[in-house]
Parts: sequence; C-alpha cells; structure tokens
Amino acid sequence: MLAKKGWNIISRSYQRETRISLDDVHYGPISPGETELKLLGDVKSKDVLEIGCGGGQNAIVLSKWGAMSAGLDISEEQIKHARKLAKREGVKVAFYIGNMEDMNMFQNERFDIVLSSCAIGYVENLKKTFQEVFRILRKNGLFVFCVVHPIANRGRAVRYGTRRYWGIGNYFDRRRRIWTWKTSGKVAKFYGYHRTIQDYFNLVVATGFVVEKILEPEPYPLTKMSETERKRIPYVHKDYVKEYDIWRRIPFVILFKARKNPKECAV
Ligand SMILES: C[S@@+](CC[C@H](N)C(=O)[O-])C[C@H]1O[C@@H](n2cnc3c(N)ncnc32)[C@H](O)[C@@H]1O
Repeated sequence: MLAKKGWNIISRSYQRETRISLDDVHYGPISPGETELKLLGDVKSKDVLEIGCGGGQNAIVLSKWGAMSAGLDISEEQIKHARKLAKREGVKVAFYIGNMEDMNMFQNERFDIVLSSCAIGYVENLKKTFQEVFRILRKNGLFVFCVVHPIANRGRAVRYGTRRYWGIGNYFDRRRRIWTWKTSGKVAKFYGYHRTIQDYFNLVVATGFVVEKILEPEPYPLTKMSETERKRIPYVHKDYVKEYDIWRRIPFVILFKARKNPKECAV
C-alpha cells in the first residue's frame, strides 16, 4: 500500500518541516483552525477519534480540551511520532495503527465525533471509509473532515512571464494517478484519488449523514500579520508560505461537517 509505505518514508522530515499546533485543531495549511471555525462544539468528556491522525497533534489537542481522545493512522512511523509527542505533552491518547477503510478494532457506535484532516484523500475505497465512520459513530454523532480541495488537487501552477496562475487540467478526470513527494532528500510515491465536490457530498449523504456545513476557508492574510500573529497559525509548512500568492486565491481545503442522521440509523 503506497500511503503506508510513503508516509513511513517521509514521516520524520514532514514532522520536522511542518509546524503543527498543539493548542488548536488544524484543518490544513495556513487556514483557520477549530478555535475560529467552531465545528466540533464542546468536546469535553466526548469520545473523539481522528482518522489519518498522522503525528497525533489534533488528537493531543482534543485530549487537552477534555475529550477521550483516540487517533488512527496507517503509518507506523507517524504513530510512533504521535505516541512520543503525547508522552512529551503529558496527555492520554489511544493511538491505533490501522486502515480507516476497515476499522474493525472499534465496535459500533463507539464515538461521538470522528474527525479527519487532510487524510481521506489518500484512501482508495471512499464508500467503505464513510460506511465505517457511520458505523462507529453514535446517533447524532458528528463527522468533520477536510480534504485537499478538488480545485487545488487537480490544478497546477502555470507560469506566464513573471506571474504564476493556477490552471486546471481536467476537473472531471477521476483516474488514479501516482504522484511524488520530495522532502529533505526523501522521495515517496503516493496514489492520488481525485474526487469532485459532488462526489464527496453525494457519498456522504448516501451513507446516511446529513451535511450541515461545507466550508472553503480563506487562508490567513500572511503578509499583513506580525511574527507573533503568524506563530498562532495552526499549521504552517514552508511550501505553502512560498506559494502564498497562489493559496490566497484558491481554496486549499474543503471542509464537511456532517451528522449521523438519527432517522436513518440502522446499525
Ligand atoms: C497529510 S497527513 C495528515 C496527518 C494529520 N492529520 C495532519 O494533518 O498532520 C495524511 C495521513 O493519513 C494517513 N493515511 C493515509 N491513508 C490512510 C488510511 N487508509 N488509513 C489510515 N490513515 C491513512 C497517512 O499515513 C498520513 O499520516
């Protein structure tokens, strides 16, 4: 599986090069986090799971906010980092190594909230993933996730003279492609699954969720912010700062807030 192998290769350099907040839940690069967007509500004493939790930062923050927090990731290296970080921060989080397409380690209706940040785009079987999330959520449970926005996902920077524009090759081309991530001398390959907005929306609804909100957050106004203000941004990676001129015009992530529809509950 490429995602597992790839993340095991780049985990260390990704964690070194990315500044991810341990005080706020983040929803992608240079974008507002939970403190501003308020999608999860009060998490105190709630059972919360992050799927594709990576280095565990969101799960750790949720634990600090009083949640009974858990995180699941397919990469052993990412979970290794997460466990170390949780220990360092002195918080209790249950971390699991596993595939979000098959979460058989969790019983039905185990969680109040399932969260995912920039990870669902790596899964091959989206239908199965959403069904699994539905199964492990309690009635009225919340599913909040962000993925790389389909426009960002299918686009590429095109240079005209000194200016760079964003061009989309084919928004409707859903063929799986292989892409490469080069970081600090490490090279990893991943499968890219392009889904359009209607693909995500319709599948979430067909699974039985009610979509309460879709957000396409604008990034922070980096150029107008002081160094102190910048330090409060929940997720910063140098590549997105370098390409800020593009990302201030194009949504990098799309966020869904969905609820397990009590009327449709059949688990
Ligand atoms: C871009 S990282 C995001 C991690 C974390 N949410 C963050 O924002 O730092 C994507 C994560 O998804 C994980 N992942 C990819 N496919 C997965 C799958 N099928 N099941 C569980 N985790 C998966 C990867 O191992 C990686 O840690």
